Amino acid sequence: MIAILGAGVMGEVFVSGLIRGGTEPARIVISEKREERAREVAQAHGVHALPAAEAVREATTVLVLVKPQDMAALLHEIAAHLADGTVVVSLAAGIRLETLEAALPRGVAAVRAMPNTPALVDRGITAITPGSTCTPVQADYVEGLLSAVGPVVRVPEALQDAVTATSGSGPAYVFLLVESMITAARDLGLDHETARALVTQTVQGAATMAAQPGADAATLRKQVTSPNGTTAAAIAAFEEGGFRDLVLRAMTAARDRGVELGGGTPA
Ligand SMILES: NC(=O)c1ccc[n+]([C@@H]2O[C@H](COP(=O)([O-])OP(=O)(O)OC[C@H]3O[C@@H](n4cnc5c(N)ncnc54)[C@H](OP(=O)(O)O)[C@@H]3O)[C@@H](O)[C@H]2O)c1
Repeated sequence: MIAILGAGVMGEVFVSGLIRGGTEPARIVISEKREERAREVAQAHGVHALPAAEAVREATTVLVLVKPQDMAALLHEIAAHLADGTVVVSLAAGIRLETLEAALPRGVAAVRAMPNTPALVDRGITAITPGSTCTPVQADYVEGLLSAVGPVVRVPEALQDAVTATSGSGPAYVFLLVESMITAARDLGLDHETARALVTQTVQGAATMAAQPGADAATLRKQVTSPNGTTAAAIAAFEEGGFRDLVLRAMTAARDRGVELGGGTPA
């Protein structure tokens, strides 16, 4: 059995993603504090809902998708009910393996993972760090399970807060760019629907080009920027406005917040 603890936004993304990836709904049990929400998710996906302590009893894999500030209470609630050999995967920003392992009984392995919301459309990416007692077989199993919603990469734990600042929070940066481009296009006279179609297709197409094997974003940008042309005028305005530095400052702020959420102090 796979237990999914916390059936909020991301919890439901993983319930539906695992099912689309071939996991039988009967093999999934969810636990959610808000009863109405538990019923809603259970009914929508045909899975069982149980209190956390009961949900983990039969589980060999536990995915934890509660907010970081709810993690300690939840681990305390489930610790005594986990069977030997279970893997607990935390998908919460900032929670360190050391914290997870200290809260779990001996014989229960931990994995730290950072997913992102495009998992909802099977275009997510998840970075995982297996804990000190996680076996290669357990790590491969977790990797296979999470790959239902997009590729999985492995990173050393020291880089997990940087991953959070890149792909975890990243979709929101793209949404902000999309929002801003739509607003600007409307200011330039386009109607909302046309602006939305032009912007979203452009972002999707450009991302697909940048993701081609061997593609380099800087080269692609130069290829579409003729000297003294329209794109050159826009890029000059971005550069003058400090776009690159702004992106770095935003991502550093996200990384530092991740460190704080994990109880650390940003460098
Ligand atoms: N959203 C993202 O883009 C994103 C991306 C990467 C990672 N994450 C991580 O995913 C996790 C979940 O985020 P989210 O956006 O899905 O949050 P969310 O919508 O608030 O979902 C968390 C759910 O867990 C419930 N919960 C809290 N304590 C519980 C307990 N002891 N037992 C059962 N359920 C419990 C909450 O109920 P209450 O509301 O009643 O407390 C809430 O419904 C976070 O740790 C976040 O860092 C999120």
